[in-house]
This record gives sequence, structure tokens and C-alpha cells, in this order.
Amino acid sequence: GLPPRVRIHEVGARDGLQNEKGVVPTEIKAEFVHRLADAGLATIEATSFVHPKWVPQLADAEQLFPLLGDLQGVHLPVLVPNERGLDRALALGAHRVAVFASATESFAKANLNRTVDEALAMFDPVVSRARESELHVRGYLSMCFGDPWEGPVPVAQVVRVCRALLDMGCDELSLGDTIGVATPGHVGALLTALAEEGVPTDRVGVHFHDTYGQALANTLAALQHGVTTVDASAGGLGGCPYAKSATGNLATEDLVWMLQGLGIDTGVDLGRLSATSAWMAGQLGRPSPSRTVRALTHQ
Ligand code: HMG
Ligand code: MG
Repeated sequence: GLPPRVRIHEVGARDGLQNEKGVVPTEIKAEFVHRLADAGLATIEATSFVHPKWVPQLADAEQLFPLLGDLQGVHLPVLVPNERGLDRALALGAHRVAVFASATESFAKANLNRTVDEALAMFDPVVSRARESELHVRGYLSMCFGDPWEGPVPVAQVVRVCRALLDMGCDELSLGDTIGVATPGHVGALLTALAEEGVPTDRVGVHFHDTYGQALANTLAALQHGVTTVDASAGGLGGCPYAKSATGNLATEDLVWMLQGLGIDTGVDLGRLSATSAWMAGQLGRPSPSRTVRALTHQ
């Protein structure tokens, strides 16, 4: 059966904007997050406290985060790769943080300048200190299905890192299909393996990118396996339209359209959300890749 309610973890302001060629002005980012909250999104990933040279698009985290202080009842998780990042997040009063591991060595190196296990060792004190400060900790895991350098990723390799993140103390996991190559059978196989490993499904979220147009099908497969937390990006923001291995995340509007049709509650107002994404597309100077945004706003 399908769940009555799905929690959407909105990543447009972070995963979406980190991949934009241009840097979006801080005030526009703040307006974007406020509009997402007005549209009913209750978990909005705001930014990352990473090295500004690695992700210049999010180098304004210190300026942006305080502009979101008036948002009541909305969770605003932020990415922190290391203790330096956690210190920055704590200094601004963040309540939710996320570390981000990789299932493959190639991506661990490319994204974190570490091996898989060195990255886990880097996260360990971050997670324990975050929990001491009573923060909620999400553990992302990238390249759960395929990797651009290594090809298909064995399920057992993914399960091992999931286990490590949970043992470290992460409250929830997010299984990333970073390059969007997953298909529903693969999703089912990974979720089945995690359940057999004793991982509670209510602590597992899914994070699909839509490169091959499979993100919604993969989401439905995950829901059928008991998942109730789904990551999505307003307007399908993210990725470079010219890079074949990475496009934006599953568009939040496409997700909400499907869930509404299934009678699954999300708390999101699709009209307001699409209007927000159409506005953001105007800021970025190109149409939203989301089919639902285009259909609803006649872009
Ligand atoms: P490194 O070069 O190995 O850093 O990078 P280091 O630890 O050797 O430190 C070097 C310098 O950076 C030091 O400064 C540190 O203080 C500084 P120096 O002493 O030389 O002046 N530094 C920092 N400054 C500010 N904030 C920090 C910080 N950390 C160190 N947090 C590092 C290692 C982890 C920092 C780097 O690799 C990094 O920032 N990576 C982030 C990459 C990233 O953000 N990727 C995108 C997010 S993941 C994603 O999108 C996938 C996801 O969506 C799921 C999916 O789709 O799969 C989540
Ligand atoms: Mg991502």
C-alpha cells in the first residue's frame, strides 16, 4: 500500500542553486525560501557551510541564514561536511544539519577530497557534537545506484555506508541517485536490502535526480516499499543542462502532482509553488525544466 502522507524535503535552494552557473543574489535566495514556506513546504534545505571555493554559489551562507530567522515552524537544514562547517552552522543557530557521504571512492574523492572511510571519520565528530547540541542530523549518501566513473554501484557497498552513518548517530538517511541513473527495480532492491539489514524504513528518505526521466517512477517504487520522505527541488532546479551526467532533482511540482492524484497529503499548495518556480525561472533567465510548472504556468 501507499502512505497517507509524504514529507517533502525541499532542496531547491541548496542542491538546485549550488549547480547554477551564476550566483543568485542573497536577497533572491531569501525570498525563494520564504515563498517555498508560503507554499506549504515544511522542510527547506537552506544552504551549505562548505568551503566557499568548492561551492561559490553558496558562499553567502552567513548572510542568508539570518534572513530566514522569521520562519516559524519550518525546518531549515543545512549541509556541513566537517567540524568547521558545524561550527559555522551552530554559530548561526541552525537546528538541523546534514553530513554527506559517498558510496563510491571516486565521488568521495571528487566531492570531499577524501576516501569513503576518511570522509566517514571526518563526519564522526560532526555527528556526535551535533547530537550533543540536540540537532537533528541527516546523513546523505551519494552515488547509491550508479557512479559516472565506476558505473553501477553494488547494493552491498551502499548498505555498508548506510549502516556506518546510522551507527554514527544520524537520525535519518537520504539515498542519493546523484546522476539520475536509477530505475525502479534497482530502488526496490536497495530498499529491500536495507530492510533486511534492519534499517527502519521510516528513517530512510530518497533523493532522485531526473537525468533519465525516472525520478517519479523511482519515487513511486520507494513509496511502495514504505518510504515516506522524498527529496525534491522546486521547479526541478539544479544540474547543468549541458552536462550529460547531472540534471536537476525531481521537480517538487511533478512530485506533488503525482501525490495529489494518489490522494497522498503533502501540505503543499501546488499553485503557489509553481508560481514560485516560474518566478525563480525568470530570475535565472530560463524556463523551468519541470513539466508540471510549464503546464500550470504556461511558460
Ligand atoms: P579540503 O580542501 O580537503 O579541506 O576540502 P581541508 O579540510 O584540507 O581544509 C582546507 C581549508 O579549507 C582550511 O583553510 C579550512 O579551514 C578550510 P586554510 O587553513 O587552508 O585557510 N575549510 C573550510 N572553510 C569554510 N567552511 C568549511 C571548511 N572546511 C575547511 N566547512 C572540504 C574538504 C570538505 C572542506 C571540501 O571538499 C568541501 O567543501 N566540499 C564540499 C563539496 C560540496 O558541497 N558538494 C555538494 C554537496 S553534496 C551533493 O550535492 C550531493 C547530494 O545532493 C546528494 C546526491 O545528490 O547524491 C547531497
Ligand atoms: Mg543531489
